[in-house]
Amino acid sequence: MFQLTINDLSISDFLSLYWQKQPLLIKGGFKDFVDPIEPEELAGLAMEESIESRIVTNHDETWEAHHGPFEDFSLLTDSNATLLVQAVDHWHPNAAELIEPFRFIPNWRIDDLMISYSTPGGGVGPHLDQYDVFIIQGQGKRHWRVGLPNPSLREFAQNKSLLQVEAFDAIIDAVLEPGDILYIPPGHPHEGYAIENALNYSVGFRAPNQRDLISSFADYLIDNELGKKRYGDADYVARASIGLVSEKERNRLKNLIIDTVNDESAFQNWLGKTLSTPKHEMDLYELEESYSEEDITGILLEETVLIRAGGVRALYQLTEDNLVLLSINGENYHLCAVNQKNIQLLCDHIEICSDEFEKNEKWLDFIRLLTKLINEGIYYFPE
Ligand code: SIN
Ligand code: CO
Repeated sequence: MFQLTINDLSISDFLSLYWQKQPLLIKGGFKDFVDPIEPEELAGLAMEESIESRIVTNHDETWEAHHGPFEDFSLLTDSNATLLVQAVDHWHPNAAELIEPFRFIPNWRIDDLMISYSTPGGGVGPHLDQYDVFIIQGQGKRHWRVGLPNPSLREFAQNKSLLQVEAFDAIIDAVLEPGDILYIPPGHPHEGYAIENALNYSVGFRAPNQRDLISSFADYLIDNELGKKRYGDADYVARASIGLVSEKERNRLKNLIIDTVNDESAFQNWLGKTLSTPKHEMDLYELEESYSEEDITGILLEETVLIRAGGVRALYQLTEDNLVLLSINGENYHLCAVNQKNIQLLCDHIEICSDEFEKNEKWLDFIRLLTKLINEGIYYFPE
């Protein structure tokens, strides 16, 4: 368990003063910090085909980015090199624990835990991120600088996969030590260079943009045979200019689009699916011998702990027809609102004690769903 203290701020103070507004250096955010992963383990993950990794080097002012998987680590030189591994929370339960203290932000906003290992002088250079990030300093020390958003700062590609930004003035300029945390809102230029071999943990967030949302919603309409209503103009009367698209016609066309989004059921189902789809392919441990519903009922009676597999995205919505819509890893399940508390437990916590579940008149519906999720490896009982 990592215990977060944000200087002398409460969570509400942090949210109102800093979240999405200004960067903050949190000295000793995690007291007596112990790294949940060793650099060797990180390197092991970077050898896996299904895990996204990079090595960035900056020798003699030349930036290079190499993509994993890596068979050896000759590129990770004793100085001026960084190994970065994405979505470590999917693969390493102990490292995934580092996300937990930041769950005062809704689950669906959390993207992944990226971990970097840098040798002295190593970093990814000055850059902007489109998303909020908490960068936690693990072992070693790293010198970080953070500036303010500045539209005149030019971004340029050092190479195909390394976008950087020109030199900026820093409002935070500090050497981070183990347990220190840097909060950086979107669009703030930053750069960090290791002073000693250093591990850094980035808890990253996501904020979809309009085009991603619209394109994903359009895909959903197509996949589900929705959005087929066509333009009609039975009230058309002849007019002088047939080259014109009139305001009325334009608004009718626009409303055809708006109507699709206003279909609350379609919108919620799409939203649940899209927000709960994991960022990376998941390596779930599907059970060879499935549990029956009776098995699960029995196990839950024994006051056991149920754990959500790392990287699983679980969220719920309340629907207009008084159902709870649970979305897990891109799949939607509708349950009677009586089960809201049980669904909330599944979504709000990564560990649930079985006696917290509420045995209501629709308990069997919940057990049926939970049995499926456990058999798929989405939730599991510890060994
Ligand atoms: C890093 O850990 O090297 C990169 C983190 C970041 O700047 O977002
Ligand atoms: Co960054």
